[in-house]
This record gives sequence, structure tokens and C-alpha cells, in this order.
Amino acid sequence: MEKIYITTAIPYVNGAPHIGHAMDYCLADTYARYQRMIGSEVKFQAGTDEHGNKIYLKAKELGVPTETYVTENAEKFKQFISELNVSYTDFIRTTDAEHERRCQEIWRRLKEHIYLAKYEGWYCTGCERFVTEKECQENHGVCPDHQKPYEKLEEENYYFRISDFKERIFEAINSGEMLILPDFRKKEILKLLEDSPDVSISRPRSQLAWGVPVPDDDSQVMYVWIDALANYITVLGYPDEDISEWWPAKAQFVGKDILRFHAIIWPAILLGLNLPLPQVLVSHGMVLADGQKMSKSIGNVVEPMEVLNRHGLDAFHYFFLRHIDTFADSDFTWDKFEDAYNNELANDLGNLVQRLATLAQKNNITLGEINPNLPAEYCELMDNFEFNKAFDFAWEKVQGINRKIDEEKPWMLAKNGETEKLGTCMRALIIELFSVNQMLEPFLPTATEKIKTVFEKEPIAPPEVPLFPKS
Ligand code: MSP
Repeated sequence: MEKIYITTAIPYVNGAPHIGHAMDYCLADTYARYQRMIGSEVKFQAGTDEHGNKIYLKAKELGVPTETYVTENAEKFKQFISELNVSYTDFIRTTDAEHERRCQEIWRRLKEHIYLAKYEGWYCTGCERFVTEKECQENHGVCPDHQKPYEKLEEENYYFRISDFKERIFEAINSGEMLILPDFRKKEILKLLEDSPDVSISRPRSQLAWGVPVPDDDSQVMYVWIDALANYITVLGYPDEDISEWWPAKAQFVGKDILRFHAIIWPAILLGLNLPLPQVLVSHGMVLADGQKMSKSIGNVVEPMEVLNRHGLDAFHYFFLRHIDTFADSDFTWDKFEDAYNNELANDLGNLVQRLATLAQKNNITLGEINPNLPAEYCELMDNFEFNKAFDFAWEKVQGINRKIDEEKPWMLAKNGETEKLGTCMRALIIELFSVNQMLEPFLPTATEKIKTVFEKEPIAPPEVPLFPKS
């Protein structure tokens, strides 16, 4: 049995979750469920990123102690991923004492690649990152993602010598040893890597109070990204425990906005620790609302619980995994969501189940044991993280079964008393439905479970409440 480790980016807890945060979880959860279905043992991390000035300042603004603030928000994220039915196995908070201690040990182990130097430059607290003079000029001094002016910083920081690893990272990305998906992002990263300077990895305590203290230097605190990235291995017990059972990760899911940290700084840390690189970095696009980035100031933030409560979990998963592109930016609109629910989930799949189960009930159809095999084409798409395409592939089969019912008209066979032909036709249709149902399992875990129950019961009976009641 293959052992597989899957990770998700850990969100900042400076607010409640929004629908964009669901992307990492939906994609990673689908992959985890697929892997389990084909027999792998899966370890699946999730967590919260709780350090840094962004969080510290937000708590201060609200007049709440930082510890209380992060604990309350971490709870909201935990709640959200359980509402989403994410099948994670491990949850990490970066304020866990164990994590902090392990980060300090990691720092010590990286010591030969770390040096102290003066820093003078521009910083965005929204991104929690320094930008180059060129980037600052190009953006006219204001971060385009956060609409905040860059801050000028002059301080003494520890630096991580990325240059020690550049060549090795370049090779790993280029050869596919650390695969970056989608391919066009790989090219962007290789370009960025070429120009990548050494990174500042600490801030004076006077400037950043809320973070992991740098070991053996009380005056400095670790840069939030160092402690955040380390979560992927501290949650496995590194460096106290041997993590080779799970590491390297099979797949790490991150948004395109944070790929640069995962494709440059993260591999440099791993190489500095003599650990292998992750096999695949899957970088998804952004979820937009009405074509725009979601933001509180524009007032277009879509509340995830509102979407979940509208038509339930399966509708949420359906939309995010089929209609939101796995790799490119995509739009959420209520109209699109309602259309997808009514015209596809309810009409195509819900009606199909209702029709077939009603016909089976009326005509006393019985089934032997059914053990469908997954089609190779579907597996290939799933193995390549082409989730939208795998979902489309399965959905075409759903529509195919509906067409077949219309063509073969089993109700006419019943009317004409052609019992044997009717039995063969119905069993073939239900077997096809079972095969589709299996392909849909990683995407729609609750609906597919219900469908199985409907047809595994003897005698077969349609669900009392349709799977997807029309709104
Ligand atoms: N704390 C860092 C991640 C550290 S990982 C070691 C962070 N947090 S975040 O809250 O800003 O984002 C968490 C994840 O949500 C990231 O993968 C990010 O790309 C994703 N998304 C945040 N907004 C999003 C959308 N609007 N759409 C899709 N994904 C989005 O970055």
C-alpha cells in the first residue's frame, strides 16, 4: 500500500474564512479521497498560520489579546473545514509550543546558510514580504493586492542564502523532480528564481513582537513565512522524529499567489536540511466574485456558509470542483451557482437516480454484486491533477445514461411484458450508474454514498426526498 502525504496552505487567521479558502481544501480533499479509493494510505495536513504583524495589528485594532484573537479565528477555520467535510488527518496551529520549538531547531540546522546583515527596503504587511525597488516602482509604491503603500524598512536582519541552493532548485524544477503545475507557472517561477536575492528571514523584536524567537538571539523574531512553511514537516514530528515514512509530500496544494514561497524558499529550506523536495506543487487560481478580487472594501466577499447553506455540501463541492477551473482564475456568481445546481446536479444526476430507482422498484429489479472498475482515462486525469476534466469525463457518462434511458425506453419494455429484456436493460443501466458513482466519489462524497444506499437496498426504492430538490 502506497503511503501518501498531502498538504494545504495554512491560512492567516486575521479574519474569518471566505470562499477562496475553500479551494485548497476542495482540491486536496478530492485528491486524498481519490488516493484512498485506489488503495493508498493518506496523511493529510491542514492548519492555521498565526504569526506575523498582520495578525498582531488586527488583534490590537480590535483591542483583543493576540492569543485570544488567534484562538477564536483558528476555531472558525477548523469549523469551516469540518463543515466542508474535509478528510484531513492532522491539524497544526503555528502557535503550538511543539511547532515553535521545532522551528527553532530547524533554524539551528540551517545556521551555515544564515548571516546577519543590514536591510533597507520596501515591505508589504499584507503579503508579509519584502519587494524589490523595481517592483515598488512598477506598482507606484502601493501593493496591488492589498492597496496599501509599501513601508520603508531599515533594520538588521538575518538572511537566508538562497544562492547556496539556486542551481539545485532550478534543476529540480526543470527536470520535474519537483513538478510545478500548471506548466505555465513553472516558467514564471524559473524566471523569478533567476532574479531571486537572498531572503531576509527575521525582524527585530521591536518591529515584530508576534512570532517565533530566533534561537540564541533574543533581539530577533523569525519571519512569518519561515515558521509557516516549516509546518509541513513539524506536523510530522521533524526534527524529533524520522519523517521518511511520509516525506517527501506527494502533493502540496497552494494558491498561485503564494507559489513563489513554496517553489523557492521552501525547497531551499528543505535542501538546507538535507531533506528531499516535494513531488508536486499544485498551484490553483483565484476565486473571483463577479470578475473582481473579493475584498471587504468592494463589499463583494461571498460568505462560505451562505453558499454551503443554500443547497448543501454536494452543491458546494460540485460548483468548486467542476465550474471553478483547477488552475486558472474563475468567477463565482450566484446565478452560475444556481444554474449549475438546478440544470446539472438536480436535472442530470438527481433525476437520473430518481428515474432509475422508480423503474427498478416498479418492476422488481434485483441486482447481483456490482464491482465497477475505474476507467483508465479517468485515473490518468486524476493522477495528473486535472480534476475539472476528470469531473467532466464522469459527468458526460451521467448524461450518457440519461440518453440511453430515453432511447431504450425501459417503461415500454415493461408495458409490452418483455420482462427478460427489461431486466437486462435495467441492470446494464444501473451498472453504468455504479461506475459513474465511483468516479464521482472523490468529488461528491455524501451524494455518492446516498446513491449507493438506494441501489444496494433490497428491494430498490427511490429516495423519499430527491437527492437535489429544485429551488
Ligand atoms: N498564510 C499564508 C499561507 C502559508 S502556507 C505555508 C497565506 N494565507 S492566506 O489566508 O492568505 O491564503 C491561504 C490559501 O488560500 C492560499 O493557498 C491562498 O492562495 C488561498 N486563497 C486566498 N484567497 C483566495 C481566493 N480568492 N481564491 C482562491 N484561493 C485563495 O497565504
